[in-house]
Amino acid sequence: MLSKKMTGTLNAQVAAELYSSYLYMSMSAWLQNEGHPGAAKWMGLQAREEVFHAGKFYNYLLDRGGAVRLGAIEAPPAKWKSPLEVFEAAYAHEQKVTALIGNLMTLAKSEGDHASEIFLQWFVSEQVEEEAGTLEVVQKYKLAAGQGPGLFIIDQELGARTLSAEVKNALTGAPPAAD
Ligand code: FEO
Repeated sequence: MLSKKMTGTLNAQVAAELYSSYLYMSMSAWLQNEGHPGAAKWMGLQAREEVFHAGKFYNYLLDRGGAVRLGAIEAPPAKWKSPLEVFEAAYAHEQKVTALIGNLMTLAKSEGDHASEIFLQWFVSEQVEEEAGTLEVVQKYKLAAGQGPGLFIIDQELGARTLSAEVKNALTGAPPAAD
């Protein structure tokens, strides 16, 4: 059985993941309006991936018989100065999420909650990818140094992003692929 503290912290993480989605939707809209459709698509898919993350926490709460208590989600910022600033903010945000996952893992260990520890392991690895993915884009925009041709190439690259089959299936309700 989940402790009261773990239940509350997992519920808070559902809201944190949905805030991430909200933030990335806002970033996607700004990028689209500013003429960066590839980056907008990349960020839009990232927003959907965050809904997938929120769903994982939500389902885990239900699987463990925990009460789901959905909290308020604050409004995200709506304006940035450049695509570089957008991705720098996304990278900084992912670092914050990593810290939240770290706190959850520390709590699970301190409570001897082995099931939560195993569940959270996926997110520990995922956060390494989340940080690496956003940092990679930051570095590309830094290399382009605001120059049109470089920005154009980066935008085309970012527009080639697709959702993983796992995320797509979870969001569309398709059954997981057989092993
Ligand atoms: Fe749900 Fe981007 O971490």
